[in-house]
Amino acid sequence: MGFGKMDIDRRAFIASLGGIAVVEAMDDETKAEALEHFMVEKIDEAMGGHVELANAQVMPAAEDATVRRGVGSLFAPSGPQNARKMPALAAMSDKPTLMEFFEKRWAPANHVLQSATRAMKTGMSEEIVMACLLHDVVQNLVKVDHAWWGAQMLEPYVSEKISWAIRYHQALRFYPDEKYGYEYPELYTRLYGKDYVPQPHIQKAYEFARNHKWYFEARMITVNDLYAFDPNAKVSIEPFIDIMGRQFKQPKEGLGNDNSPVAHMWRTMMFPDNPL
Ligand SMILES: [Fe+2]
Ligand SMILES: [Fe+2]
Repeated sequence: MGFGKMDIDRRAFIASLGGIAVVEAMDDETKAEALEHFMVEKIDEAMGGHVELANAQVMPAAEDATVRRGVGSLFAPSGPQNARKMPALAAMSDKPTLMEFFEKRWAPANHVLQSATRAMKTGMSEEIVMACLLHDVVQNLVKVDHAWWGAQMLEPYVSEKISWAIRYHQALRFYPDEKYGYEYPELYTRLYGKDYVPQPHIQKAYEFARNHKWYFEARMITVNDLYAFDPNAKVSIEPFIDIMGRQFKQPKEGLGNDNSPVAHMWRTMMFPDNPL
């Protein structure tokens, strides 16, 4: 969406996020997202009807929005559109691999790489490292309910434990767990308000997940998530190539060509500019 006609109160924006240190620790993507939230609220205020995000099941769109907020970043790069050009995409081979998606569709994939790097450095299991590496990649396709979409898209190719952990990380993000050092993110308080109550399906998913035998795996995604927004971190896919080989069942026909129940999701990421 474009914000050309509105004045941005820079100080108020920075204060709303918790100060300059918090803002400096954000990567561009996160900053752009936060700015969008801030602007949407300002627009609502300007129109005299401040929407309580805490109770809103449907998030408001700006008057001049051209895409829905939940659309994936391959379809609508985040942030004011004049600052984020639609990226050019390389053609993919006839047998696309997971690595190819990382290089040609999801790059630089900083957030998931940082998350997996931390999981590896802190001695997490290979399945947790893999889950961290893949936990948000679906956000290139779709953002709303991304954990469910992501788990489904990856399910045919990873262990049940990995896809389960990815499915439940979205709900666990909203619930602190002292035992594992997971605090409610300050950023959520800034973005959703301090009395934010997660949607009913999120509450139910949390109740289910916290007593599950794989709770730890999903919880570790959220823990590593907290430390994966460093704009200065140098990360690479290289340390994960062997793990990908062991933990991801690469279909021999190539992703998108294997006639799996989710092949169309991969094809959609291969050809996001196809009109039909
Ligand atoms: Fe996520
Ligand atoms: Fe994440």
